[in-house]
Amino acid sequence: MKWIKALQKNQIPGSGDIKTVEVNGKQLCIINNENKIIATQSSCPHAGGHFSGGWCKNGNLICPIHRYAYHLETGRGAEGQGDYINIYPTDLREDGLYVGFEESWWSKLWN
Ligand code: FES
Repeated sequence: MKWIKALQKNQIPGSGDIKTVEVNGKQLCIINNENKIIATQSSCPHAGGHFSGGWCKNGNLICPIHRYAYHLETGRGAEGQGDYINIYPTDLREDGLYVGFEESWWSKLWN
């Protein structure tokens, strides 16, 4: 797992807020759901809506476009949707928020 700093501590979104960041060449949404910080992909797999305008409800991230719901821990779409979103691990450290990325076998060869 490769950990990359995404935000300074003072940039972490407040409860209920969603912030878009660019980390490791990917655009992610950093979400504060009841003071738990979650990192997800930023675009909705349904039709590309941007989650930055979305909101959290009952442990799900709701897309603002057609209101599809995605579980904030598993990334799984609600029943009947048949889709999912990527959830990235987060680690709050002394100097800020880090997001973890799986390393592919080939990137380990080159680094
Ligand atoms: S684009 Fe997200 S629910 Fe349709």
